[in-house]
Amino acid sequence: MSTPKRKTRFGILGCGLIASVHADAISHIENATLVGVADNKYEFAESFAQKRGVKAFNDYFDMLSCPEIDVICICTPSCFHAQNAIDALNHSKHVVLEKPMALSTKDADLIIETCKKTGKLLTVISQLRFSEDILRVKNLISDGALGKITLCELNMRYYRSPEYYSSSPWRGKLAFDGGGALMNQGIHGVDLFEYMIGDIKNVNGVIKTLVHDIEVEDSAVAIVEFCSGALGTIMASSCAYPGFNRKITINGSDGYVILSENKIEKLVIKDTVREEYDLKNLSMANDPATLKYLDHKRQIENLISAIYGEEELLIDASEGRKAVKIIEEIYKTSNEFNK
Ligand SMILES: NC(=O)c1ccc[n+]([C@@H]2O[C@H](COP(=O)([O-])OP(=O)(O)OC[C@H]3O[C@@H](n4cnc5c(N)ncnc54)[C@H](O)[C@@H]3O)[C@@H](O)[C@H]2O)c1
Repeated sequence: MSTPKRKTRFGILGCGLIASVHADAISHIENATLVGVADNKYEFAESFAQKRGVKAFNDYFDMLSCPEIDVICICTPSCFHAQNAIDALNHSKHVVLEKPMALSTKDADLIIETCKKTGKLLTVISQLRFSEDILRVKNLISDGALGKITLCELNMRYYRSPEYYSSSPWRGKLAFDGGGALMNQGIHGVDLFEYMIGDIKNVNGVIKTLVHDIEVEDSAVAIVEFCSGALGTIMASSCAYPGFNRKITINGSDGYVILSENKIEKLVIKDTVREEYDLKNLSMANDPATLKYLDHKRQIENLISAIYGEEELLIDASEGRKAVKIIEEIYKTSNEFNK
């Protein structure tokens, strides 16, 4: 009989909106438990800890040094991710790191090096990769069911209100958020685009701030060439009132698929498959607070299994770097375009 696994013990750093999703996910995993939380505003940690019946750490380094914690979930504003992850790894903790893993590939590389040096596992949150329909589409493409992939479109016309930007001091600020419609909201779609279709060879884009009073882009477009030869476009907005489901359309020589958020809306394969679903507007298009924990739970379960050597870690730091690299390239080419 195999020895039962002891519970994997978690700490959460940053007690805002996404921290609740992490805490909900952990509480729904049988072999996991939340031990404590920390925030640079101790009162936030205290009130979060009280609701969840866990410890509030006054100092984040006390949480990192706590021997009763195995994994740190990093839920701080994006600009702190790289340093927080490196600190946690250097304190011998495994890490669940919110997206974007870092604001540059240079910082992403420092995280990758620290993972190698410490031998600890780090997963970068891209929870939608764990959605059933995303996995189904990825498999259809890799099995050749859609034929040769030709044209692909990522169309994210989201809306974020002025209150969204004013509700946290870091949102929309270049130094803290690192970018806008792409680096913050769009990174999920960019990650899925490459994950399902394959590696991207070239990207060229233009970004603008058209509506919001923010330092980062609220509008972006890009042209993409995949290594397979397929061509694509990316469109991302955080000012497309009232906000629409993110659509990904993938056309091949034998069929096509349209995804609405993480659900298949239409799938057609020559002579064999014809599926169509009537999907409502899903609320992520205009309200990030409606995010549910299920896909985070699946990703955290994968990390736990990887810690025990039972599964391969599906989204490690090198995987998380890919979307940062594409977005960085769009920003770079946009600067050149605007010269
Ligand atoms: N995976 C997803 O779908 C998803 C959704 C929303 C947000 N996010 C990501 O999660 C991160 C946090 O976003 P949020 O919406 O929860 O933000 P938030 O502003 O609601 O919460 C951030 C928390 O971190 C705390 N904090 C700030 N600086 C800190 C520091 N230096 N050390 C410790 N704590 C600090 C703040 O006091 C606040 O409580 C962002 O990087 C964002 O991109 C991911």
